[in-house]
Amino acid sequence: MNWRALFKPSAKISIIVLLLIGVVVGVVGYFATQQTLHATSTDEFCMSCHSNHSLKDEVLASAHGGGSAGITVQCQDCHLPHGPVDYLIKKIIVSKDLYGFLTIDGFNTQEWLDENRKEQADLALKYFRANDSANCRHCHTRIEENQPESMSKMAKRMHERNAQKEPDKRKTCVDCHKGIVHPYPKK
Ligand code: HEC
Ligand code: HEC
Ligand code: HEC
Ligand code: HEC
Repeated sequence: MNWRALFKPSAKISIIVLLLIGVVVGVVGYFATQQTLHATSTDEFCMSCHSNHSLKDEVLASAHGGGSAGITVQCQDCHLPHGPVDYLIKKIIVSKDLYGFLTIDGFNTQEWLDENRKEQADLALKYFRANDSANCRHCHTRIEENQPESMSKMAKRMHERNAQKEPDKRKTCVDCHKGIVHPYPKK
């Protein structure tokens, strides 16, 4: 190929056009992906498979959905990570749910949830433990430092004491706060 030809005016234009098309396709693709990911992150999306489970009602009955401030914490606020890469990875793990949805007998029934609550809860807790309850910390930023005056004495003391421990002896939020939204079964 004659490289010099690339710098002829006509070739230059077609290269620029190609580059522009590339940029447009890239940008459109980027936003389409964002939209898809976003659409798959609403409560409705989660509840499309869990529609017969009491999970949403549990949120609404808890401090995370039933408080006087009118805040409803969304499923993904607690269950999906914030970083784009971690988010994609977790999504791919969540898409394993598609397989479960198609193969688990009677999955979308309250009976199934009641029967399997403990096992499912422990699976969910694994994720919180693996990242030191990062999703909780995303909202609750003043638990260990700069605690608000209004926080109860008991809570302050427990949080401070825990923060002073060696990192490997420290508990994470969900170790002490189980069943804050869904009922955590005793056994
Ligand atoms: C395609 C259907 C489907 C969708 C959509 C879905 N789930 Fe699930 N989910 C399942 C199935 C099936 C299981 C249990 C089977 C298993 O453990 O493989 C499950 C289990 C869970 C668990 C407990 C087990 C674990 O690994 O943590 C959590 C938490 C959960 N889902 C949250 C969510 C959230 C949050 C969303 C929305 C972002 C969501 N699900 C969307 C089908 C679905
Ligand atoms: C999207 C933001 C958000 C996320 C994520 C979140 N919280 Fe909360 N949390 C709140 C709000 C808002 C309140 C109510 C505050 C109030 O009443 O003053 C609350 C209240 C609480 C309370 C006190 C009420 C109760 O139920 O005992 C605890 C404990 C708590 N959260 C722990 C957690 C833990 C543990 C996680 C992670 C599993 C978490 N939160 C995730 C926003 C959030
Ligand atoms: C060592 C156990 C322990 C750990 C770890 C812990 N907490 Fe607590 N927390 C408590 C206790 C005990 C209370 C007081 C009783 C209650 O409200 O459940 C409390 C209270 C709270 C309250 C309510 C404060 C108030 O004044 O009403 C919130 C919110 C809270 N914790 C969030 C968190 C979050 C978020 C994390 C993780 C960053 C966390 N906690 C880690 C034990 C702990
Ligand atoms: C404030 C945080 C928070 C919100 C909001 C939340 N979850 Fe959870 N979820 C948890 C925690 C923490 C667990 C681990 C078990 C426990 O402590 O009860 C859990 C457990 C689960 C489980 C396993 C079964 C069980 O009951 O433990 C499923 C399924 C689930 N969540 C789905 C959902 C769906 C769907 C939504 C939205 C309608 C949602 N969650 C909203 C924090 C949350």
